Amino acid sequence: MTWPSQSIAGLLPPVARAAQIVGRDSEVRLLPEEAAALGRVAQDREWEFAAGRTCARRAMRALGRPPSAILIGTHREPVWPRGVVGSITHCRGYCAAAVALEQDLASLGIDGEPHDRLPAGVLHVVAGRAEVAALDALPRGRVHWDRVLFSAKESVYKAWFPLTRKWLDFTDVFLTVDSSDGTFHGRLVGPALDTTAPTGFDGRFAVRAGFVLTAVTVARP
Ligand SMILES: CC(C)(COP(=O)(O)OP(=O)(O)OC[C@H]1O[C@@H](n2cnc3c(N)ncnc32)[C@H](O)[C@@H]1OP(=O)(O)O)[C@@H](O)C(=O)NCCC(=O)NCCS
Repeated sequence: MTWPSQSIAGLLPPVARAAQIVGRDSEVRLLPEEAAALGRVAQDREWEFAAGRTCARRAMRALGRPPSAILIGTHREPVWPRGVVGSITHCRGYCAAAVALEQDLASLGIDGEPHDRLPAGVLHVVAGRAEVAALDALPRGRVHWDRVLFSAKESVYKAWFPLTRKWLDFTDVFLTVDSSDGTFHGRLVGPALDTTAPTGFDGRFAVRAGFVLTAVTVARP
């Protein structure tokens, strides 16, 4: 499949490196330590896990880091080599990883989703009334804003978790989308605010080839 010029890398600052797979890729591989960490799983799960690790190694190589095993943390998070921050995403037909040096970014999170409406009932679980009203005011027609919000919140969580190692509920973040420039902002609200971590998360989104892509980066303090 041809991919328009702006891939997920276009949503990230120049200090980050990203790699993505659209459709299949015959060079997807797991390292032995990764295969052992994953254990026996269904074929689809093995493929997405291996595709994520393959993208991660490609991105690390682009960053000038040797391609090493990326194991699984206690909360399912990828365990990056010392000095590297990063994030992995996959959905049917799409997989990506993005990395940066810890000296350049405090954290990052990426997410890819099929560009469809969310299943019935999901929006009201992941967004509050004011967030839904703000989505309703966005330009209608071309973009499934509910899916953009969902993906953006997943990216926020993936950037948040390595900084805090804490759970973050969908209702702990108030998300606003700016349709004019492809950006969004997640503001922590409620109990999650009781933290030394950042209280606001900036991100970018794009709709490309049938996928919603979002990325959040956290600058170094
Ligand atoms: C963890 C979660 C964000 C993954 O998102 P998803 O859309 O289901 O799946 P994706 O394919 O995009 O991402 C999966 C990858 O996320 C990464 N991931 C999993 N847990 C993670 C964590 N705690 N922190 C950071 N990254 C994590 C992994 O690399 C995983 O892929 P892998 O298992 O093959 O390594 C999601 O399952 C979840 O638990 N969400 C609830 C928390 C949340 O999003 N809160 C919103 C706060 S505003």
